[in-house]
Amino acid sequence: MIKVMEAGRLKLAVLASGRGSNFDALGEAIERRELSADIKLLISDKKDAPALQKAQKREIEAHFINPRDYKNKDEYEMDILKKLHEHDIDLLVLAGYMRLVGRVLLESFKFRIINIHPALLPSFTGLHAQKQAVDYGVKFSGVTVHIVDEGMDTGPIIMQAAVPVYQDDDEDSLAARILVEEHKIYWQSLQLFAEGRVWIDGRKVIVSP
Ligand code: GAR
Repeated sequence: MIKVMEAGRLKLAVLASGRGSNFDALGEAIERRELSADIKLLISDKKDAPALQKAQKREIEAHFINPRDYKNKDEYEMDILKKLHEHDIDLLVLAGYMRLVGRVLLESFKFRIINIHPALLPSFTGLHAQKQAVDYGVKFSGVTVHIVDEGMDTGPIIMQAAVPVYQDDDEDSLAARILVEEHKIYWQSLQLFAEGRVWIDGRKVIVSP
């Protein structure tokens, strides 16, 4: 088994492409002192992502890094990596980041890139997970926090929470119900790292007591 990190206050960087409600929920958990961490950096791949303004409001350093300005994904991620090293980041937290993470970040942050996905993985990977669940007719869906590997939404699972799916749900109503749980289990999952309790055993995450 591999211990991901020793206990200690976390230095986080958040990657976000959109609204940034998960980013805000992490900030609130830090303010309530339930999450022992500091968000040092927010990076967005979208110029008009509301997450950028949310970071500025919280006086957190925020950058728009445009993937189109780079020859390839490696070079784009090298620039992100430079910023992560500048801030001595412990964990890279994906919060609505709508890109597949490439090998540059994966190799430098092995087991230390975390994602939140709005479905009970391994069901409904990729885009529009809530719509996929409604269309499939499942009676429960939910949210998964997992460690990122080279696949799409395939890495070791840290925490999940389930919600019911009702007959009259649409993508938006289910997404809203799931989001309430996202805002609870993301910071709870990260706090396990701050407590030095996360181990990797093959494709399983083991949380020590
Ligand atoms: C969240 O529902 C998150 O789970 C999802 O995007 C939304 C971002 O909302 N992520 C994915 O679908 C990743 N595959 P937010 O910007 O308000 O945090």
